[in-house]
Amino acid sequence: MILVLLGAPGAGKGTQAQRLQESRGLAHLSTGDMLRAEVASGSKLGARVKGIMEAGHLVPDEIIVEMIADRLQQPGSKAGVILDGFPRTLAQARALDQTLAARGRKVDRVIQITVDTEATVARIAGRFSCESCGAGYHDTNRPTKTPGVCDSCGGGAFVRRPDDNPESVRTRLEAYAAQTAPLLPYYQKRGVLSEVDGMLGIDAVTDQLEAALGPA
Ligand code: AP5
Repeated sequence: MILVLLGAPGAGKGTQAQRLQESRGLAHLSTGDMLRAEVASGSKLGARVKGIMEAGHLVPDEIIVEMIADRLQQPGSKAGVILDGFPRTLAQARALDQTLAARGRKVDRVIQITVDTEATVARIAGRFSCESCGAGYHDTNRPTKTPGVCDSCGGGAFVRRPDDNPESVRTRLEAYAAQTAPLLPYYQKRGVLSEVDGMLGIDAVTDQLEAALGPA
């Protein structure tokens, strides 16, 4: 299955994709995570995209499309993938269709996680993750069980994303409205789009997603 999770910054795409990856046996492909890994590695590509990401703008389509095409042909993607943060523009959506068609595949489901802007800003402001294993948390919505200790790996160092500041968040929300929201009618016309209420608690959103996807 090729599943696309759509939603504004902070909607919960990454949180839910991690859960669906386990329950559905699909690979989780997050373009944001891939780009952050490039920045952390100090690669040429990382140096090129660092400033763009920190300012909250979208990285050029050709970079993203090439990155995803490469991941889609790796053996780990064979059983199916959850696309988190991609596509984000109509050009990316069309390029994805072409890449998949060349392999006899297509986008099977697109699920939009809807949220209020106010909630997304609060979610992003409280987000942090474990520096060692990347497990994601939130100051109030999803704290670590023991303060200062990662539930997953026991690590004690945490990081916040450099683009999680008020100015970049505003730019990211504008980019979503202008460049990503037009994907909704694009997928609706094909009959593959459905919606879940991302304002519910994390577990309730997972339940909705599982129900929307049907039996694993
Ligand atoms: P990316 O990493 O994709 O960031 P984003 O889309 O802004 O999404 P977020 O990661 O902020 O939010 P999320 O929906 O995953 O929420 P999360 O689950 O973490 O992209 C970053 C940048 O990379 C872009 O700005 C761009 O520069 C570049 N980029 C990436 N892909 C690109 C592309 N295709 N084209 C061009 N450029 C691209 O949840 C947020 C917080 O809320 C967490 O703390 C979580 O614990 C909490 N939370 C989650 N769900 C709930 C809930 N239901 N109730 C309460 N709290 C919740």
